[in-house]
Amino acid sequence: MIIDSTGAAAPCCYWGAYENLNSPVGNVKEQSIEEIWNGPAYQKLRAGMARGDLAAAGCAKCHAVRQGMSLGFDYDSDADDDTETPHGRNIAVLKDEIARGATVLEAKPTIISYTPSHRCNIRCTHCYQESTRDAEIKRADAADEIERLAPYLVRLIAGGGEPFLLPIWRRFLANFDTRKNPYLDFGTSTNATIVTEPVLTGLRRFKNMTINVSLDGTGEAYERVRVGAKFDEVRANIRLLKEVVKAAPSPKANIGISMCVMKSNILDLPNLVRFARDEILQFGMSPVITKPPDESLRCFNDPARDMAGWADAIDAAKAELDSYFPSLAAVWHAQIVPEETQETWRGLFEVLRAQIPFDLADVPHRRVTLDIPDELMVRAVAAHGAAPLVAYIFPQGATDGVSYWGPIKDGRCEVSLPDGTFSIGVSTKWDATVGDGGTFHIGDQQLDEAPPIALQVATSRYTPRRVAAGVMRRARRMLDRVTAG
Ligand SMILES: C[S@@+](CC[C@H](N)C(=O)[O-])C[C@H]1O[C@@H](n2cnc3c(N)ncnc32)[C@H](O)[C@@H]1O
Ligand code: SF4
Repeated sequence: MIIDSTGAAAPCCYWGAYENLNSPVGNVKEQSIEEIWNGPAYQKLRAGMARGDLAAAGCAKCHAVRQGMSLGFDYDSDADDDTETPHGRNIAVLKDEIARGATVLEAKPTIISYTPSHRCNIRCTHCYQESTRDAEIKRADAADEIERLAPYLVRLIAGGGEPFLLPIWRRFLANFDTRKNPYLDFGTSTNATIVTEPVLTGLRRFKNMTINVSLDGTGEAYERVRVGAKFDEVRANIRLLKEVVKAAPSPKANIGISMCVMKSNILDLPNLVRFARDEILQFGMSPVITKPPDESLRCFNDPARDMAGWADAIDAAKAELDSYFPSLAAVWHAQIVPEETQETWRGLFEVLRAQIPFDLADVPHRRVTLDIPDELMVRAVAAHGAAPLVAYIFPQGATDGVSYWGPIKDGRCEVSLPDGTFSIGVSTKWDATVGDGGTFHIGDQQLDEAPPIALQVATSRYTPRRVAAGVMRRARRMLDRVTAG
């Protein structure tokens, strides 16, 4: 069960993602985990699964299946012979109930991912949690419930914010009695800036652990993204964590690094592969493709300038794989990485490349200055106060999800655009809901006209009359204060 910081629960990470747009199955702010576990949504899911009817279960478009992941029941097979611990008994009961197609289970959940809060000690430039930093599950006994269920679990995934900063996970690492569940896999994704002795001592008590260190590049590129973290310190902490993982009794215990690939660090990709090679670590990559616009690989201020060097960096990183594979084999305790698997790894860079609209760099663009209409600015300031504002610019009729953006200064925004008709919204870099500011057209100007061209954006939908008078007055006062300051 995946529980996010709003308390919403889902049976897996992909339940409400990609094309699998199911609603949450409950909310731990209002219900206990056990109520949700045997609630109507879970019963429906199990009934569908038992009939082999993935569509009825809500899993017709399962992203995990499409990625070729196995949906088998993954647990520590040592627990098969264990009738003494709650964990061993729970596995036996669960297997029996699955075989019988039960929809209400006596067995407890086996995987819980719990994100109680978005609190963090650093500020990453791409972090989608920035707009919800105060999000917190405040039902006090939700944490107790997690601790009560831990003896039964196969895997507990400690979410954040920064997990090693959060009291619930510090307490858990210090106090959980691993004799109650010697099989528990403690999983987390961390920024590895708070790897204190209590954290290390706590981790050492677990037989199995799965640790992901988010490492968005190396050296300066890393510090550009992970604002407040120091690369050298984090590298030292990764080495400490590696020692703990190496000493863990389970051969499945593992630590890896993952890089969110974005504008600020894409040129550093080859260095990340070299780092993984030298430190003997498995690495993963995920592109930043939605918000924020200044880091997204699919949102541009000036496509040719923004994408300069990206293709070469991907090529160079891919070429570095040959020197990386011996390290990967060592991580897997194998002699070599089979040729077929090597191809899969090369393919990861093609998956990344496919996310980037490289062809756009060849389309003629011209530098324009957009005069953002006053009423649009007023509404944005009313909504976001003194936060820096950006313009979101969407080509009309485009279906490829590629868009433009620009920071707004003095009510103006500079951006390079091709001919076409665009809609515009003004918001902060974190705001997913972008206010609609109307449309404008580019194409009547001469291409050789000296840039930037000042364009008056015509607001089509919103006029001051349609904004409540009180909001307008408050917004104007704020706008005056911001401009004066
Ligand atoms: C929100 S963090 C929480 C855990 C921990 N603080 C960390 O950094 O690993 C979880 C993961 O989400 C990734 N992430 C944050 N913002 C993202 C974005 N806009 N797009 C893709 N991944 C993002 C982070 O890089 C990190 O790997
Ligand atoms: S460390 Fe994790 S939670 Fe904190 S800002 Fe970075 S990505 Fe977000």
